[in-house]
Amino acid sequence: MSVDVLLGLQWGDEGKGKIVDYLAPKYQMVARFQGGPNAGHTLEFDQIKHVLHQIPSGIFRADILNLIGNGVVLDPVIFRKEIDNLERFNLNIRENLFVAKKAQLILPTHRLLDAAYEQAKGEAKIGSTLKGIGPAYQDKIGRHGLRVGDIVQDNFMEKYRDLVEEHKEKLAYLNYSYQLEEVEKTFFEAVNFLKGFQLVESEHFINQKIKEKLSILAEGAQGSLLDVDFGSYPFVTSSTTIASGACTGLGVAPNKIGEVFGIFKAYCTRVGSGPFPTELHDEAGEYLRKQGHEFGATTGRPRRCGWLDLPALKYAVMINGATQLFMMKADVLNDFESINICTHYQLPDGSKIDYMPYDICDIDITPVYETLQGWNQPLDDIHNFDALPEALVSYIKYIEDFIRVPINLVSVGPDRKQTIIKDMAVVA
Ligand code: GDP
Ligand code: IMO
Ligand code: MG
Repeated sequence: MSVDVLLGLQWGDEGKGKIVDYLAPKYQMVARFQGGPNAGHTLEFDQIKHVLHQIPSGIFRADILNLIGNGVVLDPVIFRKEIDNLERFNLNIRENLFVAKKAQLILPTHRLLDAAYEQAKGEAKIGSTLKGIGPAYQDKIGRHGLRVGDIVQDNFMEKYRDLVEEHKEKLAYLNYSYQLEEVEKTFFEAVNFLKGFQLVESEHFINQKIKEKLSILAEGAQGSLLDVDFGSYPFVTSSTTIASGACTGLGVAPNKIGEVFGIFKAYCTRVGSGPFPTELHDEAGEYLRKQGHEFGATTGRPRRCGWLDLPALKYAVMINGATQLFMMKADVLNDFESINICTHYQLPDGSKIDYMPYDICDIDITPVYETLQGWNQPLDDIHNFDALPEALVSYIKYIEDFIRVPINLVSVGPDRKQTIIKDMAVVA
């Protein structure tokens, strides 16, 4: 058995949570491999909407194991809140949830530093979620972060104090004022709470499960265009969001990876700063935001909206080795007579390119569009691929021909049930 990976091909919020929850019954374990509470993954079923930040999206399916892997940065306070919110659903969280001892901890001072760095950047800010992600990964790579396993060690307080002293010096340098006492109290209560969960040597745990032939789905957070290496740097998150991140973030070898499911919206959104070639500043953009409820699941910020960007999508498919594509939120385009789709970029000197250039943050690129016919009808009553309107099938075909990877799933609404599969046997 291999580990399949499901990840976002755009700037996050593609609908990963919905599809992980949808596919979870086909798997015996769901594992998060990077990111942290910057993620907001929405699941909808039985008229209830759930937003998960750190807990894997397999948690609502009985008997499925859920792992928070070593590549994740974990905030114990948010972890506790999430668990408290889930308590009323009678899930077997204490039996089914495992946390890697090697996952890094987000401390209250990481969050303060995140805010302080953003404040210092002024206009040039990243637009971070202010969850402490960047500073926590900085400490990990700087080799002085604290890990989940440290919380049960005798010298945890000593290690904590040393790191916090360093953080305080940075905060003083950045001239950032703060109150730490209350949040520290909440943090230590949450750390004690976290001790009550199954903290594991997760690379052994997951490889043992692979040996036992369990099927595993690795759940990406953020999106490929926010990847620290391949995204629109510096307007990125601080982790490896692409498929290779599943290997380093779980301790799974590359030859154990099976399918790579790449999720994208039928259009594009981005939250926070940074280049977005197809962004719409007109009524169509406003319409997409309203119709798609494009407001951040973590911060509530309005998402920037624009047409589908094929050069960016092709790039994301290349760096991930996506084997199948899932197209989300097709229903949001239902009312358009015609739909634009970006096929190239035009550079300031007039030349055309079909890839995201290195200096995308510094130059003006103009998207070149192909206009396709809209399907201009509701999709509510459609439950199988063959019944999709012709214009939507043409839209799908156009993307497939451009990207050369099949689109095997089309999502037509936020609910679990609003999911149309081309061929179930292909999907999993
Ligand atoms: P994630 O971070 O990739 O899990 O995505 P988010 O949960 O942040 O954002 C996706 C949003 O779109 C959520 O509000 C979902 O409920 C919603 N959603 C998912 N799929 C569809 C769909 O096919 N149609 C519509 N209209 N909404 C969807
Ligand atoms: P999910 O998993 C969309 C964006 C932030 C900011 C940049 C850096 O729900 O798709 P960070 O807090 O990570 O340092 O912020 O990345 N960002 C996301 N955008 N969806 C997310 O997660 C995101 N997580 C981070 O808006 O631009
Ligand atoms: Mg999200």
